[in-house]
Amino acid sequence: MPDSTPSSLPSQPPSERDAYPQPDSLSPEEFRAFGHQVVDWIATYLDGVRDYPVLPQTQPGDLFDQLPPRGPVQGESMDQILRDFQQQIVPAMTHWNHPRFFSYFSVSASAPGILAEMLAASVNMNGMLWQSSPASTELEQLTLEWLRDWCGLPEGLFGQIFDTASVSTFHALIAARERIAPDTRQDGMPPGLVAYASEYAHSSVEKGAIALGIGQRHFRKIPVDTQFRMQPEQLERQILADKQSGLTPFFVNATIGTTSVTSIDPVSEVAAIARRHGLWLHVDAAYAGPVAICPDFRHYFTGWEQADSIVLNPHKWLFTPIDISVFYLREPDILKRALSLVPEYLKSATHPRAVNLMDYGIPLGRRFRALKLWFVMRSFGRERIAYNLRQHILMAQELAEQIRLHPDFEVTAPVLFSTVCFRLRGEEAANVRLLEAVNASGQAFLSQTRLGNLYTLRLAIGNIHTTREDVAHAWQRIQQEAAQL
Ligand SMILES: Cc1ncc(COP(=O)(O)O)c(C=O)c1O
Repeated sequence: MPDSTPSSLPSQPPSERDAYPQPDSLSPEEFRAFGHQVVDWIATYLDGVRDYPVLPQTQPGDLFDQLPPRGPVQGESMDQILRDFQQQIVPAMTHWNHPRFFSYFSVSASAPGILAEMLAASVNMNGMLWQSSPASTELEQLTLEWLRDWCGLPEGLFGQIFDTASVSTFHALIAARERIAPDTRQDGMPPGLVAYASEYAHSSVEKGAIALGIGQRHFRKIPVDTQFRMQPEQLERQILADKQSGLTPFFVNATIGTTSVTSIDPVSEVAAIARRHGLWLHVDAAYAGPVAICPDFRHYFTGWEQADSIVLNPHKWLFTPIDISVFYLREPDILKRALSLVPEYLKSATHPRAVNLMDYGIPLGRRFRALKLWFVMRSFGRERIAYNLRQHILMAQELAEQIRLHPDFEVTAPVLFSTVCFRLRGEEAANVRLLEAVNASGQAFLSQTRLGNLYTLRLAIGNIHTTREDVAHAWQRIQQEAAQL
């Protein structure tokens, strides 16, 4: 081997040594002082977040153009960085933690979750292997065991945490493919695999199928009934037709709480069809899953215990800061067979209780996400979480009732969880303008969807601090803006 040792090491000018007396840019004392400032800012922010417009009054490129085009050559003072955060970054923010953020699915960071995130960044653990992080590996297993139990799911499910439901669902697709086509790892994908989901399934399911390589042509969108639920007889008809054409059905997604309308696919019937035809059943409960914690809503989840895999996102509706998606698997060894690949430098002593989570997914590195879930679960407890979820559902039902009583508005879908779909009777254009006006007011942030051809507004409750007054405030604003159209 050629000798690449430099003949002499570069010498460090004494002036540089004086300029950088310590490797970190903050001394321990400075860290403590700025840390207190940051926590104070967070507490004030959370307390006064209603004073911010939910949507920023900013145009695309505004922030980018305001900031220097090149990174600083010399470090800047933390005072200045924190000032710029407040004066430049915050005004360009959409405030997801605002109690009148009713768009998409609200994602709220509760106080215990925020504290845990601070700690997780401080210890900076990377849970690739048990050895690289016993604490995060075992806490991930423990918290997901607690959550499984709270949700009434069967014992023996293997849980792990990914960043998003999109990634969890992609892993469900990989596991399903491994089960039907185990030679793929060596030989590549066989052609003709077909996946199924309702036309109201989240786009992440189709995206996962595209990424897996089955071809978008082989992703079937099964029609729904009048309540936006997958029609099981249509599913079975399509599976039979595909089999007759020589294709290989391998995966079906059933959703509990669809993104547009929070409808619930008939999971038990889909499970029976999946069993009959040898399909993998994945249940996407990314949004609604935590509601299974409430015994009075458990019946919405009938059948999900038969799934091969399930996803639910504490970062959607379990008051845990983004990102955290929980993925349960009935037979984890299938995923291990598909994905485990251990180079020499990652080999470690084997022990039956030492799980190496890198073996069960694509990512090697793994944030300590379980810590925030552990903080949230411990700080709230099961009953208080159930209470909060139930309150959100009640608020949604009360709002729907008021909308139904208004002659100019209509509710366009059943309100099962905390999301209300509604519209101004009449033209789409008026609804588009209404949405723009409400969102531009900064008083609330709603989103839109399309039910068939019907353009519809969507108000999703999920923020830990949302009150009845917040919902009333938004409804008031909607009516005012509608009156001015
Ligand atoms: C039902 C459902 N599944 C999956 C997703 C994707 O979630 P993520 O952003 O965690 O990938 C969403 C997002 O809203 C969703 O509503």
